[in-house]
Amino acid sequence: MSQKRTRSGFGVMMGLIGMIRPMLGIMCLAILMGCVGNLMASFITILGGYGFLPVLGLIDGVNLTVIFVLLILFALLRGILRYAEQASNHYIAFKLLARIRHKVFAALRKLAPAKLDGSEKGNLISIITSDIELLEVFYAHTISPIVIAVITSLFMVIFLGRIHPIFGAVGLIYYLIVGALIPIMNGKRGSSTGQEYRNSFGELNTCVLDNLYGLEEILQFGQQETRQKEQNKRTEKLHETSQTLKDHETIQKIVTDGVILSAGVVMAILGAVLLEDQAVKSWEVIIAVITIMSSFGPTAALSTLSNNLHHTLAAGNRVLDLLEEEPVVEDVAAGAEECQGDIVCDHVTFAYENEEKILDNFSGTFSENKIHGILGKSGCGKSTLLKLLMRFYETDQGTISYGKEEINRINTKELRNNISYVTQETFLFQDTIANNIKIAREDASMEEVIEAAKKASIHDFIMSTPEGYDTKLAELGDSVSGGEKQRIGIARAFLHNSKYIFLDEPTSNIDSLNEGMILRSLDQEKKDKTIILVSHRKSTMGIADEVKCM
Ligand SMILES: Nc1ncnc2c1ncn2[C@@H]1O[C@H](COP(=O)(O)OP(=O)(O)OP(=O)(O)O)[C@@H](O)[C@H]1O
Ligand SMILES: [Mg+2]
Repeated sequence: MSQKRTRSGFGVMMGLIGMIRPMLGIMCLAILMGCVGNLMASFITILGGYGFLPVLGLIDGVNLTVIFVLLILFALLRGILRYAEQASNHYIAFKLLARIRHKVFAALRKLAPAKLDGSEKGNLISIITSDIELLEVFYAHTISPIVIAVITSLFMVIFLGRIHPIFGAVGLIYYLIVGALIPIMNGKRGSSTGQEYRNSFGELNTCVLDNLYGLEEILQFGQQETRQKEQNKRTEKLHETSQTLKDHETIQKIVTDGVILSAGVVMAILGAVLLEDQAVKSWEVIIAVITIMSSFGPTAALSTLSNNLHHTLAAGNRVLDLLEEEPVVEDVAAGAEECQGDIVCDHVTFAYENEEKILDNFSGTFSENKIHGILGKSGCGKSTLLKLLMRFYETDQGTISYGKEEINRINTKELRNNISYVTQETFLFQDTIANNIKIAREDASMEEVIEAAKKASIHDFIMSTPEGYDTKLAELGDSVSGGEKQRIGIARAFLHNSKYIFLDEPTSNIDSLNEGMILRSLDQEKKDKTIILVSHRKSTMGIADEVKCM
């Protein structure tokens, strides 16, 4: 159903960076502010060093007033630039997240309903919620820090190199160790623990939710202690993994700090050697040591970044996969606008991807002005047939036609507009009852809504709720019964008033009195319509003019 692509980490980064294009200007500005701000931070210490040189009697001609003014200016600007950089990065990140969410929903509209039908629903929910959220880290805290670290380090290498090329080389090597080598090694080591942490977190979540949703079952079967133990076990595991992660972080901090200190020592030793050879002056050695010690801010920031990068890129990969996925069925946009006449299935064969055939050479005609019953045992493919008639999937072999037109030549939007499809599970939105019915036809008048509700035998129930048709379903909580839900679904179908009505087990939860009323309404509606009624109840089939057994 879905084609998973494996991209390299670099490929994912490029894919994600590709989406920044509309905001490249702000991104460059953020990077510029970050570079200037970080350099100013380093130069506050370096200038301070310059200020001390005359005191030590090492050089003359340093204007202390200028240094003092510059120090204050740099300190002030550093704060402002830092704020502005962060603000721009977050602006970009949240704008981009909104854009990506928009794109993901557009992709889902194209991929649904086949995509939402399969087993991947859970995955999809995690992409839409946590994966997209994780990308904030990438856009706000990954791209610009990397670029800023590269630019400021290069600047510092040049600054040191101008004092003496060997100082420049030492700088380059140490920036690479702190900014690249340590993060990469760390990323490799930390990624499995990070993954474990996320898994444990997910498992604990699932466990808590299971325990909440299944509270009635737990009480009924006396499972409190077992479930409690299970939950404690998972909490314990999460605690252990987070401890390991913390330990990793601590070790990494110690290593990074150690390396930075050693940079100062190495610079001082080399400076002493060069001083001996009279290749540099003593004050230059002091400035070089101060420079290297005060310039690791941007590179050291990269070493903590690598902890998250792995997850961020994995999340990015899943989001990109979804955006690039091809739908199982492409909508027909240009095809015939008309959709009328008998439905003819001609030797239809169909299997879900990589599974065995569900329909094998199925043929049959569903003619107009009739109610057609479809009877068959659970799992034989009744719902699947309706999905094929809706063109949620395409047949593997054989054809389906509406009148003279083959289904693949009919404009898909038009086709679905001509069908009222009541699925096995009616979904109710957190809105008023009236609006829940009205989604079938937004411009329907209140009278029409009430008429549809009466036909679906749900009017009396609605009138018994506190505010009738204006009652919000959220206020009723879980108290809408399965049968009431189904009847709201059927009311939608009556309101939609289309030529074709497909009902998938519409009355499975409804008592025989209400069922009788609904079936009678259907019988009165069947003129000029083609109604297909799926059920495994023989009694329901009493209303059908023709019954096909599958
Ligand atoms: N999206 C899907 N991907 C893979 N297999 C599926 C999918 N939907 C249904 N199936 C499988 O196809 C078979 C037919 O399913 P279908 O829902 O059409 O049966 P049904 O006749 O409507 O059954 P019931 O009476 O229980 O509703 C089942 O074995 C089911 O597990
Ligand atoms: Mg079914």
